Amino acid sequence: MAYETLIVEIEDYVAVIRLNRPEALNAINAQLMTELAHAMAAADADEQVRCIVLTGSDKAFAAGADIKEMATKSFVDVYGADLFGLDAEAISRVRKPIIAAVAGYALGGGCELAMLCDFIICADNAKFGQPEINLGVVAGMGGTQRLTRAVGKAKAMDMHLTGRFMDAAEAERSGLVSRVVPAKNLMEEALKAAVKITEKSALTAMAVKESVNRSFETTLTEGLRFERRLFHAMFATEDQKEGMAAFLEKRQPQFRDR
Ligand code: HXC
Repeated sequence: MAYETLIVEIEDYVAVIRLNRPEALNAINAQLMTELAHAMAAADADEQVRCIVLTGSDKAFAAGADIKEMATKSFVDVYGADLFGLDAEAISRVRKPIIAAVAGYALGGGCELAMLCDFIICADNAKFGQPEINLGVVAGMGGTQRLTRAVGKAKAMDMHLTGRFMDAAEAERSGLVSRVVPAKNLMEEALKAAVKITEKSALTAMAVKESVNRSFETTLTEGLRFERRLFHAMFATEDQKEGMAAFLEKRQPQFRDR
């Protein structure tokens, strides 16, 4: 499918999905969300893809949901269409690892989109924020839930209630992002991380993602039981035999996703 709001490139088993509405700092309109959910599902189903990198421009990952598009909508419009709901849920169901490579603004829905990914690598010019309160709305794509889980109640409340932005250093200190890199190296570093992931067993990577995500959905006891069962289940795979044999034979493993 040809996209109008995205650029998708696949190389070395990594799909790079670039948000591409430069005239609006990649503001997320309904078309972009629908195209993004489609591109993510296509990458998830594509045997040539083992990891996905979601990124924007040097100036903005995404400056939020498109205010021009939303401004005149009614409750009936947004509730009736479940604005952004189905597409966000579709992205959260992607089983392959997704890295967000964030430079510049990641605000409102942009911050929420980054948090829908499995981890965030950001440039030193990144700015995160949930400024919806300035527009008379609350976050609508996970901001009050995922940001709170990522950085804790104090910072989440501060960000949502004051609408202030968090810079890259604070985002790393708070656990929102996994690494900060110089802006000029952002894609190189994100791709390096992605390629490292492509070298693992895709089955194991999927299981890791499933198990970490389970920690947000369940009690510690149930989460530990889920992890242990998954750990046991991995012994039914050829990749476990190969990974452990390769270690003992002091060679690189040749995983076959089986
Ligand atoms: C629509 C946007 C936009 C947005 C920027 N633009 N953000 N258009 N929706 N969210 C447009 C501007 O209107 C402008 O277009 C162009 O992008 C460049 O933006 P400027 O404001 O001129 O740039 P700058 O002065 O550098 O300021 C950058 C900025 C500011 C700080 C990021 O644009 C800003 O505050 N944007 C809004 C951020 C925000 O409130 N996000 C939350 C949205 S609500 P023109 O045509 O004038 O040149 C939300 C709810 C999520 O996300 C709920 C579920 C998804």
